[in-house]
Parts: sequence; C-alpha cells; structure tokens
Amino acid sequence: EKAGFDHFMLKEIYEQPKAYRDTMGARLDPSGTKVVLDEVKMSKEQIGAIRNVHIVACGTAYHAGLVGKSVIEKLARIPVEVDVASEYRYRSPIITPNTLVIVVSQSGETADTLAALREAKRNGARVVAITNVVGSSVAREADDVIVTWAGPEIAVASTKAYTSQLIAFYLFGLYLAQALETQDAAAVAEIVAHLKELPEKVERILEQAEAIKEWAEQVSTHDNLFFIGRGLDFAVAQEGSLKLKEISYIHSEAYAAGELKHGTLALIEEGIPVIALAIQDDLFEKTVSNIKEVKARGAHVFGLHTEGETELAKSVDQVFEIPHTLPLLSPALSVVPLQLLSYYASLARGNDVDKPRNLAKSVTVE
Ligand code: F6R
Repeated sequence: EKAGFDHFMLKEIYEQPKAYRDTMGARLDPSGTKVVLDEVKMSKEQIGAIRNVHIVACGTAYHAGLVGKSVIEKLARIPVEVDVASEYRYRSPIITPNTLVIVVSQSGETADTLAALREAKRNGARVVAITNVVGSSVAREADDVIVTWAGPEIAVASTKAYTSQLIAFYLFGLYLAQALETQDAAAVAEIVAHLKELPEKVERILEQAEAIKEWAEQVSTHDNLFFIGRGLDFAVAQEGSLKLKEISYIHSEAYAAGELKHGTLALIEEGIPVIALAIQDDLFEKTVSNIKEVKARGAHVFGLHTEGETELAKSVDQVFEIPHTLPLLSPALSVVPLQLLSYYASLARGNDVDKPRNLAKSVTVE
C-alpha cells in the first residue's frame, strides 16, 4: 500500500504532481485560458456583493490560507483576513452577509474549523469549503465545496493536501477575478498556463531529493533553527517550520526576514542553521540583506532561490534551485524541498515519520 516507498509521507510527497493535475483537472477550460468552477454556485451578483473574505483553518490548512489571502487579494482585489479556527470562534469576528468565509480542512472534520463554519453561517455569511474529503462534515455544511483531489492522506504530516489546497486557492482566486473582471483575459490565461506547468516542475524538484537529504542530515544534528523569508516566502517558511517540528522534533521558528532585527537576531549564534527562502523576485534584494545579517553572526545558511538566479550563492553556504514560475504560484514549488527536508531530518533522527508523537491525523476535539 506504500507503493514501494518507505513511508506514507514520502509516497504522498511524490504523489503531488498527480494531486495538482487531478485538482486542476476539468476545472481548467479546454481552451486552456480560464477556470470553470461549476461546483461553486455563486451568481455574478453574489460575487459582486462580497466585501471581505475570512479564511479560517488550523495548522497546515491555515498556512495554505496565508497563501490564499495573497492570491485572492492580488487577483480579485477583495480584502482578506486569515485566522486560526480556535482563535476565530472566540474573538467575535465581524461577519456580515457580505462576508465570504472560506474554511480549509483536509479531513473536513476538525472541530474548531467546523465550529467556525457554523459561526459564519449563524451570522449570515456564505461559506465555501476547501476539503479533501467528499461528504465530510465541513463539506456537508458549507454552501459551496471545492474538493481537493489529493486522494487519501495517511501520514499525519500533511503534504499533498496542503499543496492541493494551494491549487484550490489559485482556481478560486481566478474564478473570482473572472466574475469581477479584476484581471483581463490575457492575465488569466497566463496564470492558467503557468498552473499547468507546475506538476512537471514539482517532478524536477523531486529528482533532486538527494541534495535535500544531505541538508537534512546536517540539520538533524541541531536542536534549533530558523526559517526566514518575505511575503509568500514567509508563508511557506511557516509551513516548513511546522513540518520540521512535527516530525523531526527539532525546534524551529519561521520569521519574516525583515523582522529579525527586532529581537530574534539575538538568537543567531555560530553554526545555527537558517533556511532562507529568497524566491520572490521583487523582494530578493531585501531578503539577501537579511541573509547577510544572519551570516555576519555566524549562521549556516541554506538558501532557496529561483533557477537562473546567480546572486544568492554568494551570500549563503548552500543553495537549492526552484524552477521558475509566477511569484504568486511559487509556494506550490518552494514548499516541496521543505517537505523533503523534514522527512529526511525525521528519518535521520530515527523517528516514526508517519505517526509523530502526541499527534492525531484528525483533530475532532477542541
Ligand atoms: C500538519 C497537520 C495539521 C493539520 C490540522 C488541520 O501537518 O497535518 O496541522 O493541517 O490539524 O487538519 P484538517 O486540514 O484536517 O482540518
């Protein structure tokens, strides 16, 4: 059942190209230039009436929501807030009938996420669910359901469900943009063309797994490390840090690169590993200057950059290249080496990769 892989997690990491293709599937118009989301039954008028969006989820699904916020704000120009479900439900969120609430849940059974969905409905909001389980509680109670066709995810650490949630956000962001005409047809077609290239680009990253395994073996001897990045790179850094903590039990923290000097830099000492994401073109110079700050204090920096970029290598100790894509789509690529990093670090530490201590796959209690 592990199809020749040592663990479900590794199998699921390698299933991502298929999960991307299946999640995009028939939702890309045959002309290849636009998105068709028939499962979302909102009229143009209803979409036009949306004043704000709340994305609510837990854990890894919350991290997908952080990317979702950028996607919706950039493509559809609607303000988006993202909340952890256990916080959202108790903070008296301002929900109106013009609020669209998006809940994200692989299992569709997470107690806090389901409670947030109910709170949203009680306040008259429309709820869209992004879930991997057809017929789950979240799917049954939401107004619209976008299923991520990742297939069953067995490993406790979420990988293909997260990336399929990203794909769902890209599709939904384009769907809103088409209805609101916030992007012209050529811009939509360009994004769709890049979306279609993602699976093959993930395959190219997976072919370089051995390089990440070496990083993981170095990292696995440390007890503390940092992930840094800006913008979407920061969102991915947070997911990379959670994954590493969850299965390798190495403590790490994800930091917005520009925020380091406001306190965290005090923790940078000789030899501490820093995983730096410098993928976003427009933020590259800024991130590099933050990398130099940690290098100057003795950090060992592992840098992720876009292929063809030659500058980063001068400022870091080791580099890993991510195939080029649109900046907005880059999380669907840059998270993959981080998944592999946590997998191999967990393995190097002799942990039970698929069943990390203290954790359950589906959290149906508050
Ligand atoms: C981390 C992980 C958890 C889940 C979270 C939400 O790898 O798996 O953080 O993402 O418990 O679960 P779902 O998506 O089922 O609501």
